[in-house]
Amino acid sequence: MIITIDGPAGSGKSTAAKKLAEALDITHLDTGATYRALTLAALRAGIDLEDESALIDMVGRIDIKMGYTDGNLRVTLDGEDVSREIRAADVSDNSHYVACSVGVRDVLVAMQRRMGAELVGESGGFVAEGRDQGSVVFPDADVKFYLDASCEVRARRRCDEMPDADYEQVLRAIRTRDERDSTRPVAPLIKPDGAVVIDTTDMNIEEVTAELLSHVRSAK
Ligand code: DC
Repeated sequence: MIITIDGPAGSGKSTAAKKLAEALDITHLDTGATYRALTLAALRAGIDLEDESALIDMVGRIDIKMGYTDGNLRVTLDGEDVSREIRAADVSDNSHYVACSVGVRDVLVAMQRRMGAELVGESGGFVAEGRDQGSVVFPDADVKFYLDASCEVRARRRCDEMPDADYEQVLRAIRTRDERDSTRPVAPLIKPDGAVVIDTTDMNIEEVTAELLSHVRSAK
């Protein structure tokens, strides 16, 4: 079974994807981690993030792998565990450069499809989460979801995860990312055809997971 969950930052899709995958005993494919790992590699190498050909060259040379240890996602970059480093603020702030490049996306989309095919072989399916999973990467998915929530609630959730963060600043960053994700010329964030749209503004994670599960069960 192939399930996709798309939506903006802070819509709850990561936690929901993880919980849904656990409930169905399949794997969670966090595709944002591939964009983050490349961004980290580019920042470390000091390459100009606006130089698309340098990014394309780099994505062809690095090795990104994902796996799970004790239920936690482990991302490796050329064999080094970078699971924590890819969540740093400078990686989040700069990931839009790699996400906006058609050439980079072609390589990462192929990588995500390969990872997906391996997961189908290993566990019979996966829950892929990102911005373009139901629209571009796995358009034939069995069930597609699009999660959304108000900007204010999404900013509040981010602040709950990062106690030192300033709410107004986080809210501004979320609005900027929304604008970038939905207006970019390549693979913009859209509601995929046939997706079940869920507004999580007034829902907690258990309610979101239960709702996703009930849709998946009725689709089986
Ligand atoms: O979901 P996230 O915050 O980990 O995503 C990191 C970056 O990658 C963000 O700029 C959006 C982008 N992204 C994307 O363009 N397509 C995806 N399928 C997943 C993430």
